Amino acid sequence: MNSFVFDVPVEGHYHTQWEAPSNIALIKYWGKYRQQLPQNPSISFTLSKCVTSTEIIFSPREDGVKAFEFLFDQKKQPEFHPKIQKFLKRITHYFPALQNHHLSISSQNSFPHSSGIASSASAMAALALCIVDFEKQFNSDLTEEAFLQKASFLARLGSGSAARSIDGPLMVWGQSEAFSQSTDYYAIAPSVDLHPIFRDYQDTVLIVDKGQKRVSSTLGHGLMKGHPFATQRFEQAHTHLNQIKTALILGDVERFIELTEAEALSLHAMMMTSNPHFVLMQPNTLAILQKVEDFRTQTQLPLSFTLDAGANVHLLYPLQDRIPIIDFILKELTKYCQQGQYIEDQVGNGAKKI
Ligand code: DP6
Repeated sequence: MNSFVFDVPVEGHYHTQWEAPSNIALIKYWGKYRQQLPQNPSISFTLSKCVTSTEIIFSPREDGVKAFEFLFDQKKQPEFHPKIQKFLKRITHYFPALQNHHLSISSQNSFPHSSGIASSASAMAALALCIVDFEKQFNSDLTEEAFLQKASFLARLGSGSAARSIDGPLMVWGQSEAFSQSTDYYAIAPSVDLHPIFRDYQDTVLIVDKGQKRVSSTLGHGLMKGHPFATQRFEQAHTHLNQIKTALILGDVERFIELTEAEALSLHAMMMTSNPHFVLMQPNTLAILQKVEDFRTQTQLPLSFTLDAGANVHLLYPLQDRIPIIDFILKELTKYCQQGQYIEDQVGNGAKKI
């Protein structure tokens, strides 16, 4: 991956701002090897309203000056420093100019930081986009496509799922026979003809637990090493990815529901059967899953759920069914949410330069 290495002249000064979206995996990434490479391919919907906006001022750095300063919501937040420091260190090989530039970084999220929504994907993607944008001022070989690939490549080194927070509406990360351009190194927006029903699919996130994650994703991924069901799980993800591709093209919502729910439960089954094990679903998570199933049976409306490595529930459904579904969410489901909190989002088209 040395084709991703590029240095800029020391005198480079630059100011840029990017907004990167969150994403929700339909086929889950769980398990990694070497430096943040996925053990199986994943596919996600890019979201549109949950975004991180990041501004960076790059300026030449004298010896002894610190590498970066960071503001979140206009305030100094030192608890974020180690993660940013680790990220910048990891990507310096690909962008040596980080050694002699100072980065003044300022970020904010469109969604509450303490909502239990993972913000690392959108945050790392926004940082990576600003950095590649700086490179672009000096690197005339960086085509639009190469720009997005490098941003995804760098974002991946910050957080695996961040590789998918660059473009949209669908992103595939990890080598898969179903998608010819796919690779473990960065995510791509596959050139499939996404059925119109999925182009504005809704994702309502029910905040069951606003707290810090009880197990970091990195630790969870690590537990897939030596996991008794790891091989079968990675094979299952490949099979599911093949199958969901067809469902997404045909607009086969029924198959989409089967696959996304099976993926969410497989992810949690992996966590529950690892050593040590983690049960991240809470009683309210299960109550919601039960109600969703009952609602679907009674109304025949295509409401389904997916989960990340936590207790919150993402509800997925077509825009055309929004009115009765939101009514159901408000009447029957928000009582299981912490302080009744939920976030309405929908499929989006990727990051934007501000
Ligand atoms: C359950 O991307 O947060 O959300 O690579 O260690 O930063 P790191 O992990 P992370 O893992 C997210 C896993 C998931 C499923 C997914 O988004 O595919």
